[in-house]
Amino acid sequence: MDSLNRRQFTQASLGSLLTFTLLDTLFHCDALGEEVRPITAQWLTQLDQLGRDARAQKLQQTLWQSQVEELLAKVPLPDLLELIDFDKLTKNLVLLDNGAKSLRFSFREVEGVPAQLIYGKQIFALKRGRSVVPHGHNNMATAFLILKGQLQGRHYDRLEDEPKHLIIRPTSDRLYNPGDPSSISDYKDNVHWFQAVSEDAYILNLHVLDVAPERGFSTGRVYCDPKGESLSDERIRAPRLGYKQAHELYG
Ligand SMILES: [Fe+2]
Repeated sequence: MDSLNRRQFTQASLGSLLTFTLLDTLFHCDALGEEVRPITAQWLTQLDQLGRDARAQKLQQTLWQSQVEELLAKVPLPDLLELIDFDKLTKNLVLLDNGAKSLRFSFREVEGVPAQLIYGKQIFALKRGRSVVPHGHNNMATAFLILKGQLQGRHYDRLEDEPKHLIIRPTSDRLYNPGDPSSISDYKDNVHWFQAVSEDAYILNLHVLDVAPERGFSTGRVYCDPKGESLSDERIRAPRLGYKQAHELYG
């Protein structure tokens, strides 16, 4: 009888222990979730508001650039990766032999955040040596955040447009690591070029369209060859390229 009681007691204790552990795990997960959710919601709301202000031209594009970069640099990367289901999105992904593969994604629905964000968005996936080829933007402000891997990122100011060339000047040329933001707009650093230097690399791309209607350009990319003729004051006369040509040279 005593031994039966002991066995019953042991089973009951094990049961309690299991229940406690399970509950503890659930509680712990929930507690983590509770902790993360408001930060993410607040972050997404702020990000969206910056984009809306830029689109409405209440916020200068250069200010949007500095503020969006500051915000992107703040987000805990594991939270962001979870928010976009990064593991699921990139599982069994076959990367391209030329250029960047564009992945469509959605942010998980977060309470209190507008379901429809102002941004166009995608994730660029690249294998080593492949590039988001050199290009500028018309009427479009874009932010990048490195999600995984390393890339060499180059920016240029677009000083003048000529019929067959862009006159550009290098502004930065550096290695980007996960969590590093960058941005380009019609007014600052309006040519970028990112080349993957790790086995694979992933960039979050957020863009606001039609932010500078006063310039009279329709929204789009302008491909160019930054290894053009050298001019005075570090300027470069970069030939305009088509999509195909740009990818043959730099993809
Ligand atoms: Fe771009």
